[in-house]
Amino acid sequence: MTTQILSTTQMFSTIDAMREACADARRAFGSRCRLGLVPTMGALHEGHLSLIRAAKRECDVVAVSIFVNPAQFAPGEDFERYPRPVECDSALLEAEGVDLVFAPSAEEMYPHGVPQAFVDVPDIGGRLDGQFRPGHFRAVATVVAKLFHIVGPDLAFFGQKDAAQVAVLRAMVRELDFRLQLRVCPTVREPDGLALSSRNRYLTAGQRSDALVLWRALNAVRALADAGKSDANILRHAMLRVLESSPSVRVEYADIVHPDTLQPLDNVREGALVAVAAHVGTTRLIDNILLPPSMPGSQR
Ligand code: PAJ
Repeated sequence: MTTQILSTTQMFSTIDAMREACADARRAFGSRCRLGLVPTMGALHEGHLSLIRAAKRECDVVAVSIFVNPAQFAPGEDFERYPRPVECDSALLEAEGVDLVFAPSAEEMYPHGVPQAFVDVPDIGGRLDGQFRPGHFRAVATVVAKLFHIVGPDLAFFGQKDAAQVAVLRAMVRELDFRLQLRVCPTVREPDGLALSSRNRYLTAGQRSDALVLWRALNAVRALADAGKSDANILRHAMLRVLESSPSVRVEYADIVHPDTLQPLDNVREGALVAVAAHVGTTRLIDNILLPPSMPGSQR
């Protein structure tokens, strides 16, 4: 019965229609229905598709949102030129067997032009990217909270690629008692290590190759940690040395922090998030790795 109801990808642009479609899908699957949501800004690549596939594995119904959220771009950032390949995205979503797609206009989401109420995660939201993009995570938390209210998912899927975003949203879900679970999926990379990003398409061939320094810097830290170095200051300096070897790359931050609180760490014995943001030309790129806690008895 249910396969018939959800045999094709259905697209919605209004909040009411999306709410109704989610309620219909839940009714069709019964009380044990697991509804998964994958929030995106479109320009879909294999990173997004990995979240969708994870959602398909765990959920009966998979919803994807595509909304380039103007509120999370500061003036002068790339909101206007952010890619919006609508037809290509739709074809990918259909090919992946996504059930429900929510692609609202800015007017639908913000009838007053800008949000009139916010969800703020003040401490965590001001760290890493939040330090350099004031208001960014408040806008991300707000739009994701809206999407959670509209779709009502049991599970929501996010990428480790945006580690600070994950920390902000984990805190939001915990502190505001959202009744859902977050799933965080590993970063999908090109064969040479560059993390997939919708913004990679801004890079020229030369910049694309310079951008690999982010991955090399993260690997330098991993190698030192594997060799038993645990002093975060030493690791951080090693990371900066690699990043500074590429003159066209302008580092914004290169930090070693706790993955949940995003507070700087003195050592990485208990595990750590190693995160970097840098401008390559006019394109801002981020990447990170998680260092696992060291084994008891190992030399650190
Ligand atoms: P967007 O940049 O489109 O990313 C949507 C989701 O895809 C995020 O959870 C992001 O972490 C994940 N993602 C991006 N690149 C990835 C990669 N290489 N590997 C794995 N996952 C990857 O993040 C946003 O949109 C927005 O801030 C949003 C949460 C939709 C709120 O507007």
